[in-house]
Amino acid sequence: MTAGRKPVTAGGKPVTTGRKPPGLCDATRGRILFGGDYNPEQWPEETWQEDVRLMSAAGVNSVTMGVFSWARLEPRPGERDFGWLDRLMDLMHDHGIGVVLATPTASPPPWLGRLHPETLPRDADGRTEWWGGRQHFSHSSAAYRRYAAAITEDLAARYGGHPALTMWHINNEYCTFDHGDEAAAAFRRWLRERYGTLDALNTAWGTAFWSQGYDTWEGILPPRHAHYLKNPTQVLDFRRFTSDMLLECYRAERDIVARHTPHIPVTTNFMPLWTGQDAWRWADEEDVVSVDLYPDPRDPLGAQHGALVHDLTRSQARGPWMLMEQAAGPVNWRGVNHPKPRGLNRQWSLQAVARGADAVCYFQWRQSRQGAEKFHSGMVSHAGAEGRTFQEVKQLGAELAGIGGEVTGRHMHADIAILHDWHSWWAGAHEGRLSTEVDLPDVLHAWHRALWEANLTTDFAHPEHDLSSYRLVVVPQLYLLTDTAIGNLLAYVRGGGTLVSGFLTGIADEDDRIRPGGMDARLRELFGIRTLHEWWPLDAGETVACEGFRGTLWSEEIEALPGVSETVPYRGGELDGLPAVLRNGRAWYVSTLPEPEALRGLLGRIAADAGVRPVLDGLPAGVEAVRRGELLFLFNHGREEAKISLMGTHRDLLTGTTVTGETVLGRHGVAVLKP
Ligand code: GAL
Repeated sequence: MTAGRKPVTAGGKPVTTGRKPPGLCDATRGRILFGGDYNPEQWPEETWQEDVRLMSAAGVNSVTMGVFSWARLEPRPGERDFGWLDRLMDLMHDHGIGVVLATPTASPPPWLGRLHPETLPRDADGRTEWWGGRQHFSHSSAAYRRYAAAITEDLAARYGGHPALTMWHINNEYCTFDHGDEAAAAFRRWLRERYGTLDALNTAWGTAFWSQGYDTWEGILPPRHAHYLKNPTQVLDFRRFTSDMLLECYRAERDIVARHTPHIPVTTNFMPLWTGQDAWRWADEEDVVSVDLYPDPRDPLGAQHGALVHDLTRSQARGPWMLMEQAAGPVNWRGVNHPKPRGLNRQWSLQAVARGADAVCYFQWRQSRQGAEKFHSGMVSHAGAEGRTFQEVKQLGAELAGIGGEVTGRHMHADIAILHDWHSWWAGAHEGRLSTEVDLPDVLHAWHRALWEANLTTDFAHPEHDLSSYRLVVVPQLYLLTDTAIGNLLAYVRGGGTLVSGFLTGIADEDDRIRPGGMDARLRELFGIRTLHEWWPLDAGETVACEGFRGTLWSEEIEALPGVSETVPYRGGELDGLPAVLRNGRAWYVSTLPEPEALRGLLGRIAADAGVRPVLDGLPAGVEAVRRGELLFLFNHGREEAKISLMGTHRDLLTGTTVTGETVLGRHGVAVLKP
């Protein structure tokens, strides 16, 4: 944060109510939480009885209720209908099932929008987001916040003492943007707090460009529809503002429930790598970090996407985390929605546990017969209890119950951190960038994949975090870096750490102003770059030859400082002979995106030099190995059977058998081995 600039909300601060925050272990008590979103208001009460019978049979010990129940709880403004929820809370308690109780504020009843049209958000083109779907609320609307606080207050007062309550779930996947008038006024207030004076704002936004100078705060708007490219810093600040406003909504509800029940943990569910929230900052405000995860069953790298999300969420939680939602079968929001083949649901669930989850939950318990998600799977599908989906869910429930005592609360150790920052992502994604082929999530996935395939366990970290416990820090791309972050990276290398950075890093400052020389001078010196002459983005599918490999997406015309330890040159083309990769002592710079095998080889070598070893050596391709505490988890993601050699004797906690020397895993196979 630049000197003199204040964060508008108290980012990074724990709960403001003065209580000692409870954690996931307060809810799990030695068991893995297993269950899912339960929407009983969609069903007659007879079905509730069948539900609890099937839940007990499947080992379900946790349900999330009330996520979309606002209209049922408050059918008319100010009225309350809690009777049905009273009966359900009791029913769950009678069956030993804990309730993660949601505030219903993600989907306001139609009457709210009708009585208070200002609660409805507007997109950049001025179109209103009407009721009839969900998430049609403006984070800046005073009326929305008033009604949301009132229903939250009454829920907390009524159920705070209920023995079934294990956790609070605030709202759902906060993700709305609003360009309307009330949001515009809130944006101005946010900017006044950030910049203090109009001069400071005009300087930060570079408004000398295209005659954009502001003479009054009232003239400032959210980045609404415009004739041509929008001001990048205005867009960046609007993203910061949006994340902060949604966080304010979350904190308001969290503080209400925490006042009633200081001992009950609070969460809100993230969408993984969702662009709308600075999730580092949000995670610091949660007692339990939870995430919703839906890899495509047909995606050959679906397991790696899952592993990335697990690693990121565990790092945000700094310990065990909650898989709040996944699908037992198909989703219904892709172009083509595939079911999970036999064994895949089990495998991906156990993969989350291996990577630190203490809760494995689904959207949703029973597949809906009506509404927009009637083709989305549930733990109980349309086929009912006899269906394959429920049968597999039942098996998984039994297995999770079997390993829970050995796993919950155990942390994982990683020697490698991948750095990621939302502000950098927002700034780098501006419509005026050099290449629309470069998409940060793809770049993050490429670097994570190289480490995942080499079975090198990784955490994620923010560039301003303390990195001193890591032997290797990997920066896939940090286009925007604050001075504090740059100082942190320099200190990390000075302190003996190894740093490897991908292209387009250290380009812009906190205001998205390009650093002199096109890249921060301190970083250029660190990586051994004398001059960065030009960026040479590549077309879709184009590759560039480098000595020993091919690069994709990007290349750079760089002149190295004399005396850098090592370079790998570009071969042929415009950049022939110039360095594609530079090593300057313990700092590495990679100016293109090497093809997957080459990146894996390069990172494997750098990790080995830094003293980092894979979880196991000599694993067949497609086998993932993860250690959590003393347990070794093995996953076969390949289509063929895989033979894995092991040292010593282990007990497989899933089968109860003893494993010596070698274990064989079939397609989607899993072993959980205890020495
Ligand atoms: C999530 C959401 C759920 C459900 C699910 C379907 O984003 O939180 O309510 O819509 O997606 O995949």
